[in-house]
Amino acid sequence: MPAVIGTAPGKIILAGEHAVVYGRHAIAVPVSKVQAKASVYPRPDLKPGVIRITAPNIQIDCNLSELSEEHPISKVFSLTKEYLNLNHFPAMSLQIRSSIPIAAGMGSGAAVSIAILKALFTFLGKPFSPEEMSCLSFEIEKIYHGNPSGIDNTVIAHNRPIFYKRNEPFQLLRVGSPLTFVIADCGVKSTTRDMVEYVRHHWSESPSKYEALFDQMDWLAAQAKNAIESEKPDNLGNLLIQNHQLLQQIGVSCPELDHLVNTALQHGAEGAKLCGAGGGGNIIALVNQSAAQLLAQTLQHSGAVSTIITTIQQND
Ligand code: PMV
Repeated sequence: MPAVIGTAPGKIILAGEHAVVYGRHAIAVPVSKVQAKASVYPRPDLKPGVIRITAPNIQIDCNLSELSEEHPISKVFSLTKEYLNLNHFPAMSLQIRSSIPIAAGMGSGAAVSIAILKALFTFLGKPFSPEEMSCLSFEIEKIYHGNPSGIDNTVIAHNRPIFYKRNEPFQLLRVGSPLTFVIADCGVKSTTRDMVEYVRHHWSESPSKYEALFDQMDWLAAQAKNAIESEKPDNLGNLLIQNHQLLQQIGVSCPELDHLVNTALQHGAEGAKLCGAGGGGNIIALVNQSAAQLLAQTLQHSGAVSTIITTIQQND
């Protein structure tokens, strides 16, 4: 039997990160230029239940039983076992590779979980829906994030642009006109869990200030939705700039992110903002498609450690 493969894309958040944890709207889109890939091979030479894991990006090469029960990969297996009511797994090897930057706000954790779940379900001959993948990976997101809103697992499992509010059915977004973004990594690593806790701490000290900022972000997300769905998204750049200013006020930007946002705006981007939890990681800059390559180079000369160009468009 050949290897069974599961893949999942990265993602970026166009509006509403952090506010979405507090019940406001946010917009996320998949980025398929970066992918997590899980390959499962049968291992009839091993005892039933023995699972070999190799994940070179995160220096894992061991049996599943050697990982702690709380490790996200162990959780994928224990949740699958419970969900499918299995006694044990057939012997197998699982290889995980990902080109999604880690701890950079591009959904690497959710994408890896979903890629493994898809490969595992396929290997076991079990059909699955995007919603099932989303719900199962949400349980694993709790380990990475502590208090996840669910936006990462939803956008990655459904692989479509979404308008998202916690505990409500999400809306698929229609993209009225293609949108090109340069994604630029400032090189500072930061974990979503720490940034979400940082915001929680400040929110609990000044709830009315933070609630007012989240309300403004909610309004911006709704305006951004209208812009994305229109054929002339002229004001989207300005909405991204306002969103970045609010994220600065929430306290999740950093000098490296601000520097890249300012550089992008000085070099022709229509708008730019930090993307994801902040404290490091990526910015996104909205740019005319023909100018994207040049802006990516400029951002690299200004300190970005890597750049990705992605165009979001209606695919159906
Ligand atoms: O995974 P990141 O870094 O893109 O962060 C997800 C967005 C947050 O709003 C900060 C957290 C969440 O659970 O929604």
